[in-house]
Amino acid sequence: MTLAIQARGLVKHFGEVKALNGIDLDVEQGKVVGLLGPNGSGKTTTVRILSTLLRPDSGTATIGGHDVASQPDAVRQLIGLTGQYAAVDQYLTGRENLELFGRLFHLSKKEAANRAEELLNRFDLSDAADRGIKGYSGGMRRRLDLAASLIGNPSVLFLDEPTTGLDPRSRQGMWEVIENLVSEGTTVLLTTQYLEEADQLASRIVVLDHGSVIAEGTSDSLKNQVGGDRVEIAVVNSADADRVAAALQSIASGPITTDQISLKILVPVTGGSTAIVSAVRALDEASISIADIALRRPTLDDVFLSLTGHVTEQPIESSTVSTGRRGRRGRN
Ligand SMILES: Nc1ncnc2c1ncn2[C@@H]1O[C@H](COP(=O)(O)OP(=O)(O)OP(=O)(O)O)[C@@H](O)[C@H]1O
Ligand SMILES: [Mg+2]
Repeated sequence: MTLAIQARGLVKHFGEVKALNGIDLDVEQGKVVGLLGPNGSGKTTTVRILSTLLRPDSGTATIGGHDVASQPDAVRQLIGLTGQYAAVDQYLTGRENLELFGRLFHLSKKEAANRAEELLNRFDLSDAADRGIKGYSGGMRRRLDLAASLIGNPSVLFLDEPTTGLDPRSRQGMWEVIENLVSEGTTVLLTTQYLEEADQLASRIVVLDHGSVIAEGTSDSLKNQVGGDRVEIAVVNSADADRVAAALQSIASGPITTDQISLKILVPVTGGSTAIVSAVRALDEASISIADIALRRPTLDDVFLSLTGHVTEQPIESSTVSTGRRGRRGRN
């Protein structure tokens, strides 16, 4: 079967910066692949090459069997792209924007109007259709962007950070829209910095860092690479941490680690919930009082941390934003 997307050895420099360092990618038709990586890891550069907007320095890529460098027109017939930054015109209404995109796709005036109407309904934008999009919320704009990229009925869709900057509810709405498209057979390559988003939408995840693929697999297989379940115990004072570790030595399936700052003890275990019962019993027998105990499955955050040695950035609405780099991401 012809792959929907195939890339081999993509390399791209911008002056001194090596944005892509030899990327390989295979995406089967009808699947969603999540390209996950921190700022500057090469996500947008990959998408721009695959969508014919940028030429690689070396390497090849095909979409539906058509080469992006030598057959860009054939590729453009097949694809839709929702870029990281809005492509729609601020001064037009939602409907006018979609009609304009339709005309760019060589639809007749009537066809463009019909297609616009259909997409406005589909994306729940009918009520706002004739308002200037200056007054749209971030979520509405993102939906309009996505609608615009669907004008030509693409079979392969590139979504570059489709939910960055959206609140949790709008993000959920966007996920539903994407899931519907996929259930209709569209192939989607989605970039994201949100592990949760990749987890929810993607059947396979490709992790990028510094322009290279550092891991790939299903969400579960990536989590399994990090290790299995852990019992996590919080104590009130640091002296108790060592006592807890000693008391739980017998149920641990690997080395116990203690985070001295958060006063959390992490005990790798097998057996899931029975392990937590054994842990409580052992702590009780040793008369150690604890602040909290929980069973924890590894998250994609743990995966990212163990692969790259650094955590991903927090979503914008999070109260624990850790760096100032997100400032430029606010959409308006
Ligand atoms: N047009 C350009 N000119 C110069 N450098 C560029 C250009 N485009 C990208 N880069 C650099 O290439 C690297 C990869 O950028 P890219 O935009 O692909 O990353 P990204 O993963 O999409 O990041 P983000 O999460 O911030 O969108 C970065 O170091 C970036 O600064
Ligand atoms: Mg980007």
